[in-house]
Amino acid sequence: MPTTNEMLHDRFIDLAGRPEQGMVVDLGCGAGPALAAFSRRFPQAHLTGFDRSEQALETARERLKSHTGAVELVPVDLCEKLPLPDRSADSVVSSNLLECLPDPAHLLNEIWRVLRPGGRAVLSHSDFDALVISGAPVELDRRVCHAFADDAPPWMDNSDGRIGRKLPGLVQASPLTRMHVETLVTSSTELAGHAARRVGDIRGALRAAAQRGLGWVQADEVEEWYDAVRHAADAGSFFFAETAVIVAAHRA
Ligand SMILES: C[S@@+](CC[C@H](N)C(=O)[O-])C[C@H]1O[C@@H](n2cnc3c(N)ncnc32)[C@H](O)[C@@H]1O
Repeated sequence: MPTTNEMLHDRFIDLAGRPEQGMVVDLGCGAGPALAAFSRRFPQAHLTGFDRSEQALETARERLKSHTGAVELVPVDLCEKLPLPDRSADSVVSSNLLECLPDPAHLLNEIWRVLRPGGRAVLSHSDFDALVISGAPVELDRRVCHAFADDAPPWMDNSDGRIGRKLPGLVQASPLTRMHVETLVTSSTELAGHAARRVGDIRGALRAAAQRGLGWVQADEVEEWYDAVRHAADAGSFFFAETAVIVAAHRA
């Protein structure tokens, strides 16, 4: 069974046109999972990844070292102008980046600028304010999940846990032509795989936020929430769902 990321990247590839020999740009590429998926399908494509994290780019370089076509992995602050000429990219993709940017509309304008006419943009974002995690008492669970959606750790300039639901409207308001909107819902009755990673993300992020003195939830409340979720998993009553919103657009 494919993982959540594999399903997401398969959809990216389906919706990104056919950039066999062309340039695919991943904005906020992180450790390069989407570019690796493009590499498997289009071994000759010119793959470009931009991210601010040198460490993530290093992992992406390692991952893409057997790619046949050109690979460029460049440290870039995506709040700035993209270091690409006008009309140079065939496909631009981005996953779970936009909430980090204080002005997502600026990046959408930039995507339009660098796409060639007819080129495709495929943007995806989880709506973190709509996470479903059963197990903990309702009031504690609401506070924990909403605190996670609002949390901006030091590596993020901004945090908008509702960007998933806003993504179709943001693209519609941009110079891009919106073509298609869909959701990918990952659900699980097991505390394993993507569900376990996300529950772990929440626990780690909110423990760090408590240490920074943000006070949404205290460290012991995070542990209380986590223990309740784990017990639900042991008792067979765990359920998890995360919705990613995917928007495909093109430059007319
Ligand atoms: C949640 S990760 C997503 C990574 C990847 N797209 C994925 O789906 O696995 C967000 C990425 O955006 C990058 N990022 C956040 N703000 C950025 C900025 N202003 N400029 C460049 N990269 C940024 C982070 O370094 C991180 O790698």
